[in-house]
Amino acid sequence: MSKKEQIDQDKLPSHIAIIMDGNGRWAKSQGKKRVFGHQHGVTAVRETTEACAELGVQYLTLYAFSTENWSRPKYEINTLMELLIKTIRDETETLVENNIRLRTIGNLDDLPSECRQNLKETKKATAGHDRMDLILALNYSSRYEIQQATRQIAKEVAEGQLRIEDIDENTINNHLYTATIPDPELLIRTSSEHRVSNFLLWQIAYSELYFPAKLWPEFRKEDLYQAVVDYQNRERRFGKISEQIQV
Ligand code: IPE
Ligand code: IPE
Ligand code: MG
Repeated sequence: MSKKEQIDQDKLPSHIAIIMDGNGRWAKSQGKKRVFGHQHGVTAVRETTEACAELGVQYLTLYAFSTENWSRPKYEINTLMELLIKTIRDETETLVENNIRLRTIGNLDDLPSECRQNLKETKKATAGHDRMDLILALNYSSRYEIQQATRQIAKEVAEGQLRIEDIDENTINNHLYTATIPDPELLIRTSSEHRVSNFLLWQIAYSELYFPAKLWPEFRKEDLYQAVVDYQNRERRFGKISEQIQV
């Protein structure tokens, strides 16, 4: 049986989030510069998006650029931004044809204006699509997201729109970038790094974590299927005991 056939359609995660890591190391292994790895990472993005859409996953979030990534060498940042602009331009038609909606999380204000403009246009062109939401995390920092949510909630309290005793988990959810997106059931980070790097800290409270050894530019549909199969073999207990889950 192929990996894809092993997937139980009734137990599909509705949201998969991916920390796409290992581009630089992959390039190095090929004797090339780091940016070569980012260029090849686009193939993995395409494969993963296709695999998720074909399976029927509703939300796919890809961590493409963290707020901390601004600390990288200027040349690498520029190349990443150019690649982002080119990829959005090249892939918009495919998103339209495949009924996929492009969304973003993160603070877009600091991105180059051409990039913001492209994103805006593609979001507009795909706004009514409902097969899958492809969510790019760009200039994203989970701590910043939580900080902004806290400020907004405090403001609403100060202005008398919200009572302190009414603040609950939903209030916080509703003030995050991900307000209308369910929490990911599955979080994947490639390249054998076992850390979260300021990604969706609140949202992954009960996510299943999966750390394949593959470097991002080598990640293919089969690897995504493998991750889903692995996820489906986990027992998600949410604090209960095994016997309570099995009834
Ligand atoms: C992930 O690959 C891509 C981005 C962070 C933009 P890296 O560039 O982090 O590659 P490694 O981890 O250095 O190999
Ligand atoms: C996390 O990868 C950010 C993205 C994948 C966009 P990094 O490679 O930047 O993370 P650290 O610095 O190794 O934790
Ligand atoms: Mg990295």
